[in-house]
Amino acid sequence: MAIRTVLRMGDPLLLQQAAPVQAFDTPELHVLIKDMEDTMAHMNGAGIAAPQIGVGLRVVIFGVGANSRYPDAGHVPYTVLINPVLHPVGSEVEDGWEGCLSVPGMRGIVPRYQRLHYTGFDQYGNAIDRLVSGFHARVVQHECDHLDGVLYPMRIRDLANFGFTDVLFPGQEIQDD
Ligand code: NI
Repeated sequence: MAIRTVLRMGDPLLLQQAAPVQAFDTPELHVLIKDMEDTMAHMNGAGIAAPQIGVGLRVVIFGVGANSRYPDAGHVPYTVLINPVLHPVGSEVEDGWEGCLSVPGMRGIVPRYQRLHYTGFDQYGNAIDRLVSGFHARVVQHECDHLDGVLYPMRIRDLANFGFTDVLFPGQEIQDD
């Protein structure tokens, strides 16, 4: 149970392919998830992936409350998602602002599939199977990208839409991730 250091863009560990979790409901997995929760809460993030704290496993957590300061955020239920598989539904792509705990102080406009079917498991091995859209779909795509070594700036189509949060949104309080 600890707040862990979040790796920042430039660290080669953020560019690696993460390995599937082989065993559920183990003490090691529960400690990892608690550390990810503590770190995400401390940094006021909307989600975090295990590789961001230097653990190369296919584990992400995310969740955004209804009163979040994240712009355009809908409610996204708190979720532990392990070994995720993503299937875009349709071809509709939507642009939206993203940030990342590994790219502190910046925001960029990233295209993401608008509708998404995703499956995976929670930390106990229970199956997760959801059809989502909008911000929820965006958060899942962002977090799962981390498992394949992809950071959101790599997906920005026009780098004119990438900058420092306090310059882009002066006077606004915006969540860190
Ligand atoms: Ni991120």
